[in-house]
Amino acid sequence: MADGIINVLHEKRALARRRAYETPLEVLNPAWASAFRDDAHWAYFERLRAEDPVHWTPDSNYGAFWSITKYNDIMAVDTNHQVFSSAKGIGLSPKPSVLPAEAFIERERPEGATADDTNSFINMDPPGHDIQRKTVSPAVAPTQLHQMAPVIRERAGAILDSLPIGEPFDWVELVSKELTTMTLATLFDFPFEERRKLTMWSDTMTTAPGHGPWNTYAERRQLLTDCRNYFIDLWNQRVDAPPAGDLISMLAHGPLTRTSSMDQYFSNVTLLIIGGNDTTRNTISGSIFALNHFPEQYDKLRANPALIPAMVSETIRWQTPLAHMARVANQDFEYAGKRIREGDRVVMWYVSGNRDETVIDNPYAYDIERAHPRQHLSFGFGIHRCVGNRLAELQLTIIWEEIMKRFPEIRLLEEPTRSYSIFIKGYEEMKVVIPRRN
Ligand code: HEM
Repeated sequence: MADGIINVLHEKRALARRRAYETPLEVLNPAWASAFRDDAHWAYFERLRAEDPVHWTPDSNYGAFWSITKYNDIMAVDTNHQVFSSAKGIGLSPKPSVLPAEAFIERERPEGATADDTNSFINMDPPGHDIQRKTVSPAVAPTQLHQMAPVIRERAGAILDSLPIGEPFDWVELVSKELTTMTLATLFDFPFEERRKLTMWSDTMTTAPGHGPWNTYAERRQLLTDCRNYFIDLWNQRVDAPPAGDLISMLAHGPLTRTSSMDQYFSNVTLLIIGGNDTTRNTISGSIFALNHFPEQYDKLRANPALIPAMVSETIRWQTPLAHMARVANQDFEYAGKRIREGDRVVMWYVSGNRDETVIDNPYAYDIERAHPRQHLSFGFGIHRCVGNRLAELQLTIIWEEIMKRFPEIRLLEEPTRSYSIFIKGYEEMKVVIPRRN
């Protein structure tokens, strides 16, 4: 990569570090998409873990919020769904005054309906959450995964066999997106030749204007309407067919979900598209980045491919594909000497908990031989713990088994372009070359 660009990034990181330490603690705000894009967010969390691990930001582009930055505190909030509710949003959203009026899409909610009638289950509390989750879980249960594994392996192999040798290409586009979208298409039994629509819709949902497939909110609305109509058509087809093992059929025939409103069905589809797409995609890219930055770990992996499952878990920790999840306190609550008030938004910064030096040894290091590689926060904890975690690990393990059979090296050529987001911690582009086959 051009030295000039590297220098600019070093300067941006130094500036972010100065800002993180010079800003008075009472107004310190760690939620900067530009800092995440420049990989310059670390200093904010380092300071908060040391000086104010349960921290109140009184105002920001996302309004006021608490930041929980240490591992054990995050666990405590994540497992206390009685106090910390998911029903009023599970992320930091821009406050209305920083968005143009056209950003607001009126969501029709039938008279008398509650959030439980229209939200996806990540956005719900018990009992509604538990009922919906139970319907979807069998699609990603061990027996189902066992059946899916050969399909994922065959598709992973086909992707890898089609890659150019000795020529630079974008790993995100040709591998990470392709593999996760193929798997998602399998889960939904989505028309395979149209699978890239899933990538496009997922990107539409998670990106800011100009950082994905849309520029204006009107374009975004149109893309989401297309997505909704497409999935309603699929529901109608599956309702009329005998029950099958794909997710849409499960939702359409499940005794507890077949009466869902189309709003709620589409919310669950949205959850599964985002849940199954960006996260795994960015872990696949993250593994290439990490192994190139820690070449001695890549050597260890080459010497002993049995380390692949541990490497996968270490990448999920190190990358932390979802930087945070949030809750809203449904009562006043005293925690760590702080008074959290009813209605306050509480952000669990997984990205920070996974670097908590009091729980994880040498947390900034990427070490594929850790004693407890699955000890991380990236999948959350408690009743909302990622339902797809084993599927994600399976995909990553298979792709790496297939990579090791074929290529002795995948070489990172330049600094990747990272996502402009405080939620999705990932990569938009990553130039690599595969020098030769085994
Ligand atoms: C490395 C990949 C992945 C990561 C890092 C990840 C991360 C997460 C996190 C942090 C949560 C919320 C946990 C909490 O609030 O405590 C979550 C929930 C969820 N994830 Fe994943 N995820 C991944 C892959 C997947 C895949 C492949 C699927 C597709 C099936 C999926 C589907 C879901 C669903 C449906 C939920 C909601 C669970 C609930 O509310 O009960 N995820 N995930």
